[in-house]
Amino acid sequence: MIQLTGVSKSYGLGKVVQAVSGMNLQIGPAERVAVMGPSGSGKSTLLNLICGLDGPTAGSVKVDGMELSALSDDARTRLRREKIGMIFQTFNLLPTLTALENVAFPLRLQGLAKKDAEPRAASMLVRVGLKDRSSHRPDELSGGERQRVAIARALIFRPLLLLGDEPTGNLDSVSGEEILRLLDGLQHEYASTLLMVTHNSQAAGYCNRIITLHDGRIVKDERFDRAPATGR
Ligand SMILES: Nc1ncnc2c1ncn2[C@@H]1O[C@H](COP(=O)(O)OP(=O)(O)OP(=O)(O)O)[C@@H](O)[C@H]1O
Ligand SMILES: [Mg+2]
Repeated sequence: MIQLTGVSKSYGLGKVVQAVSGMNLQIGPAERVAVMGPSGSGKSTLLNLICGLDGPTAGSVKVDGMELSALSDDARTRLRREKIGMIFQTFNLLPTLTALENVAFPLRLQGLAKKDAEPRAASMLVRVGLKDRSSHRPDELSGGERQRVAIARALIFRPLLLLGDEPTGNLDSVSGEEILRLLDGLQHEYASTLLMVTHNSQAAGYCNRIITLHDGRIVKDERFDRAPATGR
């Protein structure tokens, strides 16, 4: 599903920061992987490289068999929109759109008419328990509710790959646990590969593999015996 070979990413010209350094990593379909490590160890950079938002300075990044650097910008954008769901700590919802419109947004971008996109978005909102909040704008929702809207939006295409950058980072532990249970259920149902940056061992407990980074390198790669996802 994801294959990194000799991947490095450095920033800056004078004083170069090596954010990711000679990384080799293979992640199979439907794996649930937590990425841990101290601040500045390269976790977000790794996610950006995998979703093609950022290109490596050296090495190869393949997602679903495709070499990202060989794709055109348009093809990369399409891959990201249709095969990769992304959930960030800050939700990244569009403030002027309602919950329903936010979830429908990726479908609208793909050219679907409102009358086709919105019923699909509405059923996704039901799945995340927000049926009664569909006409609320983000500033009229709680943090946990906003995160659930972001999850509904990320899952609208049943993505092969679900990327999270501290998806529960801004939530209290009760809402965080709720979000994790929701993600866990949907990941099982869709058999998406899950790769989630987290500082929190409770979140890592939902994963069957934990990768620890330090200074842009993998310093630990542990696998656990937990029920694999099925269904795709
Ligand atoms: N656009 C950039 N320009 C220059 N340096 C950058 C840039 N983005 C990240 N870095 C540097 O690369 C290193 C890795 O950053 P990254 O954001 O991947 O860390 P992280 O593990 O996600 O940290 P955190 O837990 O704080 O989010 C850091 O030293 C950071 O300062
Ligand atoms: Mg980060």
